Amino acid sequence: MDKIQLHDKTFRPFIENEKIERAIDGVAARLNADFKGCSDIPVLLCVLNGSILFTAELMKRLDFPLELMSMKLSSYQGTQTTGQVLEVMGLTGNVEGRRVIVCEDIVDTGNTIVSLQHMLEQKGATEVRICTLLLKPEVYDKPVKLDYVGMEIPNAFIVGFGLDYDDLGRNYKDIYVLDK
Ligand code: IMP
Ligand code: MG
Repeated sequence: MDKIQLHDKTFRPFIENEKIERAIDGVAARLNADFKGCSDIPVLLCVLNGSILFTAELMKRLDFPLELMSMKLSSYQGTQTTGQVLEVMGLTGNVEGRRVIVCEDIVDTGNTIVSLQHMLEQKGATEVRICTLLLKPEVYDKPVKLDYVGMEIPNAFIVGFGLDYDDLGRNYKDIYVLDK
């Protein structure tokens, strides 16, 4: 794998696709075990845009009835969080009375999942479970329980597999880290 250039920054290879896929296998196995034979139809919520590849790969592996919904949030500017979570596109369906499995690409400060959980409860979700491909444990400091975590990574800025730097880099199948 080679380094990639996005806008003014260079990123070097960090996590190969093969390893990402194995992490998704693990998350899917845990979800399948927990939701097997459930009598309701849970909502799988894709948090756009970052989770688009993760949600697609995860869905293919789930074998219980589910309904896909999405919404779009935004909190990052460049390589920094603004601390403010903006709802750029509302929920594509009704979660009232439903169990919701939130599909996140990455949990960093946790601001996003805290406001998501609050929002989903306001809209009448009966249960909210958090599922994230990646977690930066050194930064995460919120009380919200992370039910399914694919992989932990150090506190670094990454792109690829759905993650972007100012809208670029989402299309790479591997993950790259900012080259200092
Ligand atoms: P949090 O609200 O600080 O937990 O940040 C979560 C959101 O910020 C994620 O859903 C991503 O969209 C974005 N984000 C966090 N860390 C990174 C990163 O290293 N690269 C790209 N986007 C990131
Ligand atoms: Mg995101």
